[in-house]
Amino acid sequence: MPNVHVVKKDFKTFPLESGDFLYKYLFVCNYDKMVYVEGRGEKFFLKIVEKEKEILIKADKITKPTNIKIVHDAMKGFVEVNGFKVLNSNIYSTKNRLYKKSPYQKDIYFYQDFKPDKRVEIEIGFGSGRHILYKAKKNPDTIYIGIEIHKPSIEQLLKQCEIQNIQNIYVVDYDARILLQTLSSNFVDTIYVHFPVPWDKKPHRRVLSKSFLDEAVRVLKVGGKLELRTDSENYFQYACELFVSLKKCEITIKKNSDIDVVSKYEDRWKRMEKNIYDIIFVNGEFSKPKVSRELPKFDKKVNFSDIYDKFENKTVRKEDYFVHFENICKAKDDVGVLKLSFGSYDKSEHRYLMFERNSIEYIPSKILPTEQNVLADKIVKEFIYG
Ligand SMILES: C[S@@+](CC[C@H](N)C(=O)[O-])C[C@H]1O[C@@H](n2cnc3c(N)ncnc32)[C@H](O)[C@@H]1O
Repeated sequence: MPNVHVVKKDFKTFPLESGDFLYKYLFVCNYDKMVYVEGRGEKFFLKIVEKEKEILIKADKITKPTNIKIVHDAMKGFVEVNGFKVLNSNIYSTKNRLYKKSPYQKDIYFYQDFKPDKRVEIEIGFGSGRHILYKAKKNPDTIYIGIEIHKPSIEQLLKQCEIQNIQNIYVVDYDARILLQTLSSNFVDTIYVHFPVPWDKKPHRRVLSKSFLDEAVRVLKVGGKLELRTDSENYFQYACELFVSLKKCEITIKKNSDIDVVSKYEDRWKRMEKNIYDIIFVNGEFSKPKVSRELPKFDKKVNFSDIYDKFENKTVRKEDYFVHFENICKAKDDVGVLKLSFGSYDKSEHRYLMFERNSIEYIPSKILPTEQNVLADKIVKEFIYG
């Protein structure tokens, strides 16, 4: 994680500006402070930890943009505009990557009604990107959607798409289990899940689950396939049981079969002579259209001071979703942020809710209208509006 240690001194008065960045507010939270930054089309926070003689400036995990170069540049700008003396840092030594907004990374809302007249394949957890790059080059008329949560892997694939001038890959920085719930029905030809993390000790974090399979079946065309490849016998057994629990199921199982492209993981497992299992599921059902859900806008005025006064750290638990009101931070009487986690228990989401005079918005992005998110958002609005 990028961080800079500087000699402690007072901040200059906000708002501050440096290069492409506007450092709009300094938020005071319980234990630390946060700087709200806007620039290069992004909205994010820098975390400030004040020690006796120094200040640590680091990236905020929830709002950190995919392109880490933006965070590095924003941190450098913040150090410069305040005239801080740097003690040590890991941002000045990194390779000077070029910042450029990538045309291959679409906004997550782009996919809500996405149903092109072309073949579509999805790869979940593409890692080094070897497989998706190979497939996309081999099948230029198919659209490949790569979904990942590991930002360095995402950056690497975006870079490769650009270097190799690939036109048919779309990259998404999001939890695939959540994104899948918001895609249209019956339009995907193949979903690849290659070497998912087995999470033997935390099975709720697995990509594959009953609800994931239901969504996969819904988005797959009739005849569309879900291809799972794993080196974990445990995960293989778990997956077999899940597939067989579907109302209708046609699966093919293979052991140690070769595919056209060998990923970094597969290379490693092969060298260790581990067994590799494939389960290929063929969808036979035409599904109902996606249930269309909307999140109501924040359209009533509120006084942030009232929210600040009534805030308490609490979790509202319902049967299959929750909202955790984690923290509240204030910049001015009418500007503040509420830190939230919410959604379904096995795949929660994290956001800040930013109150800026009369406007309220989720940072860094709106939330996706899944069933659990819509219900969680209702609880958030009940708390805000009373
Ligand atoms: C073990 S790696 C395998 C990478 C690649 N498929 C391969 O075969 O080399 C698993 C990948 O899945 C990603 N991942 C884990 N959970 C995910 C989720 N919920 N949504 C999207 N990607 C996820 C991880 O970040 C990681 O890159």
